[in-house]
Amino acid sequence: MSIFRDHLLQGKTALVTGGGSGIGQRMAERFAEHGARVMLVGRKQEKLDAAAAAMCSRGGVAATHAVDVRDYAGMEGAVKSTRDRFGEIDIVVCGAAGNFPAPVLGMSANGFKAVVDIDLLGTFNTCRAAYEHVRKPGASVIAISASFAFQPTAMQAHVGAAKAGIDVLIKTLAIEWGPSGVRCNCITPGPTDDTEGMRRLAPTDEARRRTERGVPLRRFGTKDELADLALFLCSDAAAYITGGVYLCDGGMSLARPAAWLEQ
Ligand code: COA
Repeated sequence: MSIFRDHLLQGKTALVTGGGSGIGQRMAERFAEHGARVMLVGRKQEKLDAAAAAMCSRGGVAATHAVDVRDYAGMEGAVKSTRDRFGEIDIVVCGAAGNFPAPVLGMSANGFKAVVDIDLLGTFNTCRAAYEHVRKPGASVIAISASFAFQPTAMQAHVGAAKAGIDVLIKTLAIEWGPSGVRCNCITPGPTDDTEGMRRLAPTDEARRRTERGVPLRRFGTKDELADLALFLCSDAAAYITGGVYLCDGGMSLARPAAWLEQ
């Protein structure tokens, strides 16, 4: 093996929900750059196809499966098609997410449920459906969380509740699946450039400047920075790391709660 280890995931297979766009897509690209075969899972076939075509045009190996992560049977189908196409699964990324900024009194029970179902139930469905088909030991599960999970933030009650659930779910899986060699971790992004989430949460230049003022590093993060953290966490370099919640937020969550949305 080369000491430069430029193909950290050679021969591995990754299933990435939310892999058709945003942070999930960039993580999948990074995995493909490092030799993994990737299955992109999401709701919209056209977005998945475009993302897969871009990866394949750069020499990657990618396939797609359109499904809503809220549908457990559908997720079993996505796992089966990954298994049929690429064999056992080494990496699972639960990246599918939904969000809209609204106060509690501005959202219906169905609005709250929609976000909790996509984020929390979707993460459960993905992990639960995948487990039987992951290569054990050595498999790695990564869920995408948010600082709202531990830092309650106005307009984000639904997301905060869902992400807090994800943090506990993933830590519980780390305990339950650790003995079989499956590592489970969360990544907590901060405000990240060029994502649908930030287009919703900081839609104007003023909102962006306000957000940046709440970040100790005084800038938005990039999808590449999150992809690098995901690459590390699912590589052998992180072989003894499980049950963690890893912040990649420029220090934002150290700042005063809610400052970045309300200043
Ligand atoms: N404010 C208040 N309520 C809202 C809302 C908003 N901005 N946007 C949607 N809702 C409510 C809807 O009114 C509906 O409730 P109702 O049936 O009582 O009227 C409920 O949320 C579900 O909306 P619907 O569009 O049917 O759900 P969906 O499952 O298709 O969409 C969402 C899920 C709402 C999360 C949608 O924003 C989405 O699809 N997001 C995916 C992309 C995304 O959010 N990316 C960012 C990730 S950080």
